Amino acid sequence: MENRYAIILAAGKGSRMKSSLYKVLHPVAGKPMVEHVFDQIDHLNVDEVVTVVGFGAEKVKEQLGERSNYALQTEQLGTGHAVLATSEVLGDKVGTTLVICGDTPLLTQETLEELVKHHEKTEAKATILSAVASDPTGYGRIIRDQNDHVEKIVEQKDATPEELLVTEFNTGTYCFDNALLFEALNKVGNDNAQGEYYLPDVISILRDQGEIVTAYTMDSEEESMGVNDRVALAKATQYMSARINEELMRNGVTFVDPSNTYIEKDVIIGADTVIEPGVMLRGKTVIGENCIIGANSDITDSTIGDHVVITSSNIKQSTILDYSDIGPYAHIRPNTILKEHVHVGNFVEIKNATVDKGTKVGHLTYVGDATLGQDINVGCGTVFANYDGKRKHHVTIEDHAFIGSGSILVAPLTIGKNSMTAAGSTITQDVFEDDLGIARSKQTNLVGYAKKLPYNE
Ligand code: UD1
Ligand code: CA
Repeated sequence: MENRYAIILAAGKGSRMKSSLYKVLHPVAGKPMVEHVFDQIDHLNVDEVVTVVGFGAEKVKEQLGERSNYALQTEQLGTGHAVLATSEVLGDKVGTTLVICGDTPLLTQETLEELVKHHEKTEAKATILSAVASDPTGYGRIIRDQNDHVEKIVEQKDATPEELLVTEFNTGTYCFDNALLFEALNKVGNDNAQGEYYLPDVISILRDQGEIVTAYTMDSEEESMGVNDRVALAKATQYMSARINEELMRNGVTFVDPSNTYIEKDVIIGADTVIEPGVMLRGKTVIGENCIIGANSDITDSTIGDHVVITSSNIKQSTILDYSDIGPYAHIRPNTILKEHVHVGNFVEIKNATVDKGTKVGHLTYVGDATLGQDINVGCGTVFANYDGKRKHHVTIEDHAFIGSGSILVAPLTIGKNSMTAAGSTITQDVFEDDLGIARSKQTNLVGYAKKLPYNE
């Protein structure tokens, strides 16, 4: 096989985005667009990837790190000029070079493989990935001659009214014979409506030299979408979402309303799990089998076991093991581990805590910086007072303890095995095994006093 190279064009400002964030870093389904492009070329056995950066270069480099080489295009003088910026790295290489824009997140590996195959099979020196759209406004059009051979690409702004009627357009992705590409780029001028050096001009230059130039027309218009503004960004997210959800459904996940459910690309979900409407699953979240992820739950970078039921809750960077149930309206904050059969009920917030098997935290409670053993019952309205204004302190509760409703547990504290705290207690000292901690003032009943109050007379 010939050597293969890839150039990712990512130096443009993306002014149509009207954003301080660099265009190719805008996320689609939770991943920056340029990362999607990286996924697309992942299986093409590319020997070297060069990303052309300019405006916002450092941010793009931070994102991609050492997976790519970089070429700096200091002034954005057009896509042809951008490719030329890679000549120091690629100029003298022999092989096939794939050029792809950083703003086409929906293209698939399969399509790019087909493009490369078509290029190799036809022994072309340049192959355009084209698509057909009912409304190709904004795209460069593929102009073919009487024999249906590709003649050139005309940009929207340079096209004649007749050319604008052409529905086949340039997706901005191409395969080139590397040596001929750089040779032709040196001949590209900027005498056009935008005063830019257009990469598509390489096509007509090669054709005029008598080289074979072809287009591989892909079926899916949606896949070819280039994201230039926020309207396209939202559309791309919608398409990507539909694709992700469909794949999950084919793998055995039930969606009550897939069009109203947002799942990021790297999320993994097991079979027979049900996803209700309004759910958002983000980042590196992994969900097991036979779970119910209830309406409007929002889960980020968390691991959920099997048979877990989550009802309208928010979970971040936490682990929830099998048969536990959460919510409605629970807030599980980073670094929480709930082991098997844990019950967390409504309006409970848990942060940086480990809760062992079978423990129940049923209602209106804050648990922070704590270790809870097995089969503990934490009563309604309990507060772990973990913060003294400067530092966080830890509470440990041992197996089978019973925390009475409305307990304030002032950390640092250890509540021993099988012990209890009385409802309404402010616990400031350790409670030992089998003991009852009670810390509330004794009740006094003033006889007949209620009746004596002036407003009750
Ligand atoms: C380009 C094509 C058009 C095609 C469309 C597909 C040209 C002249 N036109 O138009 O035929 O239909 O893509 O989406 O190529 N970039 C640089 N440096 C520059 C200019 C652009 O790196 O100086 C990068 C951008 O970051 C972007 C890509 O090249 O990732 C395409 O540039 P963009 O301005 O989006 O081109 P389009 O107008 O969409
Ligand atoms: Ca574009």
